[in-house]
Amino acid sequence: MSKLEQTLSIVKPDAVERNLTENIKTIFLKNNLIVKESKKIHLSKEEAAEFYKVHQSKPFYDALCSYLSSGPIMVMILEGENAVSLNRKLMGATDPKNADENTIRKLYGISIDKNSVHGSDSLDNAKREIDFFFRN
Ligand code: CMP
Repeated sequence: MSKLEQTLSIVKPDAVERNLTENIKTIFLKNNLIVKESKKIHLSKEEAAEFYKVHQSKPFYDALCSYLSSGPIMVMILEGENAVSLNRKLMGATDPKNADENTIRKLYGISIDKNSVHGSDSLDNAKREIDFFFRN
C-alpha cells in the first residue's frame, strides 16, 4: 500500500564538498520525491553526537560524529509516496562497495564513512530527525 510520507535526507560533508548536492536532488526529483524544505548547516560535534545518539554504543560512534561535523551538510525534508523506503532504495547499501548500480552511494560514495548521504530508516525516526533539524 502506498502512503504519503516525509523523510529526512542529509547530503554529507564529502558530497557537499564535491558539489554533488544538485546531482543528488535531481535523483530524488526524478523518482517523485519532492524537496519540501532544505538548508545548509555546519553541525558542532556535540550536535552530531545528539543526532546519531542511537549509535552511541557502536565502535564507530566517535569517528562518525567527528565526520558529520567536519564540514557543511545539506539537510532536506523529502516528501512522496513511501518516501522512507524509496529514499533508502535510492541511497543503496550503507557501504558503497555493496550498493546496487545507479544508487547514490554506488555513484558517489567513497567509503562506509564517506557514503555521501544519510536517510531515515523508519517513519518514527524520520519524524524525530525532521524535528531535530527543522522544528526547534
Ligand atoms: P548513516 O546512514 O548516516 O548511519 C550511520 C552511519 O555510520 C552510516 O551511514 C555510516 O556512514 C557510518 N558507519 C561507519 N562504520 C559503520 C559500520 N561498521 N556499520 C554501519 N555504519 C557505519
